[in-house]
Amino acid sequence: MSATVLSTHGLSVRYGDFLALADVDFAVRENSVHSIIGPNGAGKTSLFHALMGRVRPAAGRIELNGRDITDASDSDRVRLGVARSFQVTSLFATLAVRENLRLAAQGARPWQALAPWRGPMSNRAALATVDEVLARLDLKALADRAAGELSHGEQRRLEVGMALAARPRLILMDEPTSGMGVDDIEGMKRLIKSLGADHTVLFIEHNMGIVMNISDTVTVMRAGRVLIEGPPAVVRDDPEVRRAYLGEMITGDLS
Ligand SMILES: Nc1ncnc2c1ncn2[C@@H]1O[C@H](COP(=O)(O)OP(=O)(O)O)[C@@H](O)[C@H]1O
Ligand SMILES: [Mg+2]
Repeated sequence: MSATVLSTHGLSVRYGDFLALADVDFAVRENSVHSIIGPNGAGKTSLFHALMGRVRPAAGRIELNGRDITDASDSDRVRLGVARSFQVTSLFATLAVRENLRLAAQGARPWQALAPWRGPMSNRAALATVDEVLARLDLKALADRAAGELSHGEQRRLEVGMALAARPRLILMDEPTSGMGVDDIEGMKRLIKSLGADHTVLFIEHNMGIVMNISDTVTVMRAGRVLIEGPPAVVRDDPEVRRAYLGEMITGDLS
């Protein structure tokens, strides 16, 4: 059994009187793909915001590699190795793909800004990371193109690359395939699945069909609570899960 990278313990989030997240316990294992699914209003985004430090939990604890990060700032979490790849684009449109990745790689080592004499070395390390990421994400042919010129699907791939370039302990993704066409969705699914070999990925997904063949573990949420957690096959066949998604099955969201 691999080590736990991230865990929550009795985590609750309140908006005024409303309890959006109630006593959530879950754990993400190293080098796995872990998805969080659930119908609208289940509390997925609230959970992510708590993990990123954007909302302060009303109760409970968050640990990263055994260290309590419940009160850590947003930037502290990034420094400790929590990287995000989000729908909201964070790319520098006029800079080349390679330059975007280099900035992301160097952002992972902010203390080097205080040691300018080590500049050439850190730059070399960053460039090596950039080459690795370009190869891994099949972006080599696009390395010198401006990020703003890439297709939507290519930009989303680059965003994942930006997260990887920071050499994170944990990669958070919010609906990584939302707004994508069918071909791009297949590519992103393959990419996320392959990341699980040597990265820890946690992502939110609204569409249950998408997560089932790429996740090692699925946590299903409903009304602010964990309904069930387990491997995809177990989760898919759970009667409670099917009931939670019933409304969406009618609109064809469950596959
Ligand atoms: N800032 C907020 N203020 C008040 N209620 C909120 C706020 N954000 C979310 N909620 C409510 O909390 C519940 C969970 O929302 P959310 O975490 O966005 O769920 P999901 O991402 O699963 O759709 C919903 O009922 C939503 O209306
Ligand atoms: Mg949401």
